[in-house]
Amino acid sequence: MFRRIDSRLHEFSFIVHEVMNFQKLIFFSLFIFLLSCSNGGDDGPTVHDSELRVIISEQPLSGDPALNRNLPSITEPLAQLGMKLFFTKALGGEFDSACVSCHHPVLGGGDDLSLPIGVEATEPDLLGPGRKHPSGNPTVPRNAPTTFNVSLWDNSLFHDGRVESLGKTVGVNGEDGQGIRTPDTDFDTVDPLSGPNLSVAQARFPVTSAEEMRTERFVVDGSNEDVRRALASRLSAMEGWPAEFQSVFGDPTISYDRIALAIGAYERSQTFVENDWKAYVLGDNSALSNGAKRGALLFFQEPADGGAGCVRCHSGDFFTDQKYHVLGFPQVGPGKGNGGNGTDDFGRFRETGLEKDRYAFRTPSMLNVAQMGPYGHAGSFETLEEVIEYHLDPASSFASYSTSSLRQGVQENDMQANTQEALDKLAVLQADGTSKLPASVELTSQEVSDLVSFLNALTDPCVTERECLASWIPTPEQDVDGFQVVAFDENGNPL
Ligand code: HEC
Ligand code: HEC
Repeated sequence: MFRRIDSRLHEFSFIVHEVMNFQKLIFFSLFIFLLSCSNGGDDGPTVHDSELRVIISEQPLSGDPALNRNLPSITEPLAQLGMKLFFTKALGGEFDSACVSCHHPVLGGGDDLSLPIGVEATEPDLLGPGRKHPSGNPTVPRNAPTTFNVSLWDNSLFHDGRVESLGKTVGVNGEDGQGIRTPDTDFDTVDPLSGPNLSVAQARFPVTSAEEMRTERFVVDGSNEDVRRALASRLSAMEGWPAEFQSVFGDPTISYDRIALAIGAYERSQTFVENDWKAYVLGDNSALSNGAKRGALLFFQEPADGGAGCVRCHSGDFFTDQKYHVLGFPQVGPGKGNGGNGTDDFGRFRETGLEKDRYAFRTPSMLNVAQMGPYGHAGSFETLEEVIEYHLDPASSFASYSTSSLRQGVQENDMQANTQEALDKLAVLQADGTSKLPASVELTSQEVSDLVSFLNALTDPCVTERECLASWIPTPEQDVDGFQVVAFDENGNPL
């Protein structure tokens, strides 16, 4: 009897033991399951790579927007000359502003400001936050886009596309023999002086802008060509430049055409397209976190399928349709002289005169976008989260918008009235079905952060590393004329 009880007890404890093991097994499997879902601490659903791979082949995407393009290397002599020119204040009317003042490689090829300050900065070589104009406000009406990957634009440059390829041939940056229109010619009319590609054509203009480089005192009342001629003869008369041009072109003649050619080559060497997304597209399933994969699905899928429809405009390997859309982003700063008070910016309408283009701006690329803030044509957003959420519901986002979140103080001017005009325009285009902006996408904060994870995966690590970018920054020995920008930040640290 005792024995039986004993043996029963034994049996019982055996069963308990087994049950415990079974529970452990369950817990262990659950743990493994959660671990496999979490991927670095996030706990949303796992994305099946097959789903993303269908999207990639349907778009279709190659992962490499620079594929088959003929691009210069930064080591080529023409690009090296362009780098020196890009960094010299001798191209500024009063020797106080250079291209690099608003497009520094370490600042993502931009200036890290909402709105730029060009001429008359209190400290010309201080770049980024802390750069000040004596008036206390930025003087340039639009955010400085990056010069990185400028060679990948085939339709146009500038937020309103006013340097525009007439042929728009894919893969050639405007170099298709059909000509380029610039602000020196009427809309749709070839500028015979534009030079070979969009990058070179664009490089003819910043030197003519009073706020960016020229000042009001240099070549007063002259044409754009007068400004360029004056700068070319200035450089010709300086000690170092003729020899530089001699070694690249075989003779020492300095013309603005040659200056623009060299600057264009320097910019076109700034190709930064190596990123985790590319590795993923090329087949490496482990290149993206699970959160970035969820973000990718949201980015590419239509709202009807649970996505956010971003790809409607941010399409292709360069993540832009290179077209113009009305989004109603807050209009801050001096404006482009439009509207009743001259504080508004009509965007693409300024070029085409077409009503549908009023308040339309060019779709930005998403490559390296994490390094490109502040965002929007007037730099009115500091973070990716803010700019994404604004897309989802511009009108109500604007109701709670405040410039106080901007690091740089900017004038609001008629922000309320001007932005309302743009939002009204958007409402009309959404009502008549011509806007591509989905009207009713709602995302959780987790989904917004998944989109941000995806956008982060579009960053080429080189653009975040000073050492990697050093090839695009001249050394003090490469200062040709004593006017090289030796950039430093607001804390006095060299850039
Ligand atoms: C004071 C700041 C400032 C300076 C100096 C400046 N830029 Fe810019 N850059 C801008 C702004 C602002 C824009 C956008 C203007 C617009 O869209 O109307 C721009 C646009 C560009 C673009 C077009 C990029 C795109 O995505 O469309 C290129 C390329 C460029 N600049 C190169 C240059 C070069 C080359 C120089 C020197 C010759 C130069 N910039 C000097 C502020 C500046
Ligand atoms: C209707 C076309 C369209 C759709 C759809 C769209 N965008 Fe945009 N996006 C734009 C345009 C145009 C701008 C620039 C507007 C301006 O500067 O005023 C922009 C700006 C941005 C910027 C700021 C980039 C910069 O360099 O300033 C980000 C980030 C962005 N979009 C992400 C997204 C995401 C994520 C989605 C999906 C949730 C999305 N966009 C959907 C057209 C679109």
